[in-house]
Amino acid sequence: MTRSGGRFFTAVIFITLMCLILVIFFYVKLDFYHQNHVLSVGKESLQKSSFVSDDQMEKLSRENQILIDQLKDLELRIKILEGSTSKNVPNTRRLSSPERKRILVTGGAGFVGSHLVDILMKNGHEVTVVDNFFTGRKSNLHHWFSHKNFELIHHDIVNPLYIEVDQIYHLASPASPPHYMFNPVKTIKTNALGTINMLGLAKRIGARVLVASTSEVYGDPQVHPQPEDYWGNVNPIGPRSCYDEGKRIAEALSYAYAKQENVAVRVARIFNTYGPRMNINDGRVVSNFIMQSLLNHSITIYGDGTQTRSFAYIDDLVDGLIKLMNSNYSLPVNLGNPEEYTILEFATLIKNLVGGSSSIVFTDGVEDDPQRRRPDISRARRELNWTPKVPLKIGLKKTIEYFRKEMSNLNEN
Ligand SMILES: NC(=O)c1ccc[n+]([C@@H]2O[C@H](COP(=O)([O-])OP(=O)(O)OC[C@H]3O[C@@H](n4cnc5c(N)ncnc54)[C@H](O)[C@@H]3O)[C@@H](O)[C@H]2O)c1
Repeated sequence: MTRSGGRFFTAVIFITLMCLILVIFFYVKLDFYHQNHVLSVGKESLQKSSFVSDDQMEKLSRENQILIDQLKDLELRIKILEGSTSKNVPNTRRLSSPERKRILVTGGAGFVGSHLVDILMKNGHEVTVVDNFFTGRKSNLHHWFSHKNFELIHHDIVNPLYIEVDQIYHLASPASPPHYMFNPVKTIKTNALGTINMLGLAKRIGARVLVASTSEVYGDPQVHPQPEDYWGNVNPIGPRSCYDEGKRIAEALSYAYAKQENVAVRVARIFNTYGPRMNINDGRVVSNFIMQSLLNHSITIYGDGTQTRSFAYIDDLVDGLIKLMNSNYSLPVNLGNPEEYTILEFATLIKNLVGGSSSIVFTDGVEDDPQRRRPDISRARRELNWTPKVPLKIGLKKTIEYFRKEMSNLNEN
């Protein structure tokens, strides 16, 4: 190739490259313009087609922002709530099946029931509480509300209940005289119809059932201390009979279902029990004396104060109930503390522990008030290896502390 031919070839390549660059530049520019144009036309047509003015658009976006803020606020509150509830949930054991049982506790929001639920939950079981809140309180159980093993059902056991469980602790019944005398017919229904419903449920699903009976089945006893084979001395038409006879029919029903329908029953005859979460106005001797002492009112003794009682601390009772449920023993078992005190001794002890300025006064005795009450617990010792451990003074101190807190909560509210 000549020298002039070479220059010509270089110039052609240069011009071709320049043209190519220009074409690419215009193409990109054109595409950018096109896209912008389409977007603005789209926005315009959207505004036109939906008749949304600029003002309306602005208002909508402001409302949108308010909703987003509210949502964020709710999220924050949920996080705070989750934190505050889970913080108070007590630790529970991990149990695997078949050790882990599904357990129903009727009356589980009451004094005894809520303590029993605490231990069953801590031991790793799945617990369902059924309660109509006649005397029980949700606050006795609120520390379990967010636990996956816990369920609370608002239900009156006079009506049938359909549920699948392995064990039933049947505790639902008013227990203090003012409560069970408030509606005697309902007390009888709860102990008769309610117990039939629980035994019928146990029969259908093959569950074991423990019925909470009472030392009141011995009435005003003529045998002392009271063994389980003593049949009792109950006035069937007196003011306490709705409860005493209600519990006697509950026991009769239990053994009828055991014999006729093969239901596995356990019957606990519970003697006076005390401890935190007792209803401070339940009219029983422990709560009456503690409240009167804390308020520096006179401590009232019905009768001459020589009648006797024995008092078990709640932890001991719960231990006995669980041992009985899981034992092979199916006849009634007394659960109570055999240490016996006259009511006057008991009033003096509480007065001294509280340390107020109350005086002790005596008023007329109460109709059908049992004169002597003390359990013979040889059966519980032999069959369950159970014996109460908490000394009266220690238990009373804890109970008085609880009553003090309840009173200051009431004053604050
Ligand atoms: N605490 C004692 O000293 C003592 C002594 C002897 C027997 N007992 C028996 O132990 C059980 C528990 O007594 P407590 O001291 O915890 O009494 P409580 O009044 O504190 O508890 C009873 C619970 O049963 C619930 N209940 C009552 N009727 C119901 C119904 N129809 N349906 C559903 N729930 C109902 C109440 O709301 C309450 O939560 C009772 O059966 C009682 O007879 C207790």
